[in-house]
Amino acid sequence: MKALITAGGRGTRLRPLTHTHNKHLIPIANKPMLAYAIEAVRDAGIKEIGIVTNADNQDVQTAFGSGKEYGVKITYIPQSAPLGLAHVVKISQSFIKDEPFIFYLGDNMLVGGVAKFIEEFKANKSNCHLTLAKVKDPERFGVPELKGGRIISIEEKPKKPKSDYAVAGIYLYDESIFEAVNAIKPSARGELEISDAHQYLLSKKKKVTYSEITGWWKDTGKPYDLLEANRLVLENQESMILGKVDDASHLSGKIVIGKGSKIINSVLRGPLIIGENCVIEDAYIGPFTSIYDSTVVKRSEIEFSIVLKDCRIEDVGIRIEESLLGNDVQIVSASKKPKTNRFMLGDQSRVEVV
Ligand code: DAU
Repeated sequence: MKALITAGGRGTRLRPLTHTHNKHLIPIANKPMLAYAIEAVRDAGIKEIGIVTNADNQDVQTAFGSGKEYGVKITYIPQSAPLGLAHVVKISQSFIKDEPFIFYLGDNMLVGGVAKFIEEFKANKSNCHLTLAKVKDPERFGVPELKGGRIISIEEKPKKPKSDYAVAGIYLYDESIFEAVNAIKPSARGELEISDAHQYLLSKKKKVTYSEITGWWKDTGKPYDLLEANRLVLENQESMILGKVDDASHLSGKIVIGKGSKIINSVLRGPLIIGENCVIEDAYIGPFTSIYDSTVVKRSEIEFSIVLKDCRIEDVGIRIEESLLGNDVQIVSASKKPKTNRFMLGDQSRVEVV
């Protein structure tokens, strides 16, 4: 069995972070999101992975290389433009050949791994095995219509969903899926929809089965989803302190501090992670916060946030919460006159002030 993982698309709902970053490389608990997908399929025993990337960018290749570090062999499959998930499958046929495979959307995060779904796919001798998760907002997803424990239809982002389930981004297929992705036509939004390929399989009376995801699953399409995914990963981490913590600081909960980082006269309330070579001084870092390498936080408070590399947060008078900061972002106190708020924001930045 092989695995196919997506790492293309434009990540428009995560701008401005995705102006400069491939969304799949945004760190969740200081590890690129895509690493969780690679580890999930590897831990289920799959060694050969195809990763679909945007043809105009090499960042994913630079980050993951041959896959050796993860104990897998990665083949990169360039996609000329984000023409849809069925298009992703279509261009990957020469990599998959006629083997069964798991199709894993690289922006989906899941607890509990994928081995049990693979087992159910094999045990049922299915042509296609889907994973379903109960959600509050099914209109954001592919939605199945269920009857007597079977899927009878599937629609992509329907205005009137026929169930409160989302088809999650973890799918298992045999070679029948290639007939489907080659037969369907682009949708009104111009994409070859994976839901249309599933509907095609149903219409051809192929065996489409499913497992329900009862644990934690998230499609990290929107900023708040990233914070939630970060929260979940941090909750399950073990403490490890490699940096220096002075006697005046108080640490509680699960805390990871990378090497070269200094914690001075600060309160750290986990779960949280601080990368390498950071300085945290006279500060409060609260639960569910990830701070990446070489960032400085002084005389400021932050919690439930993701902060990337080389940021500076100094003398901020109000606690920062529910925030996402990209690389080299500065939030500092206004020192020169007049004492006022001054912003220098790139395209599609979002600021909420009180
Ligand atoms: O997360 C589950 C949902 O994923 C399903 O319920 C939907 O049926 C399915 O269409 C998909 O919906 P999204 O709107 O979330 O798909 P999105 O465009 O965000 O793309 C999902 C992943 O695939 C993400 O890793 C980006 C990548 N991608 C997307 C497209 C359209 C590509 O690599 N190439 C593409 O052409």
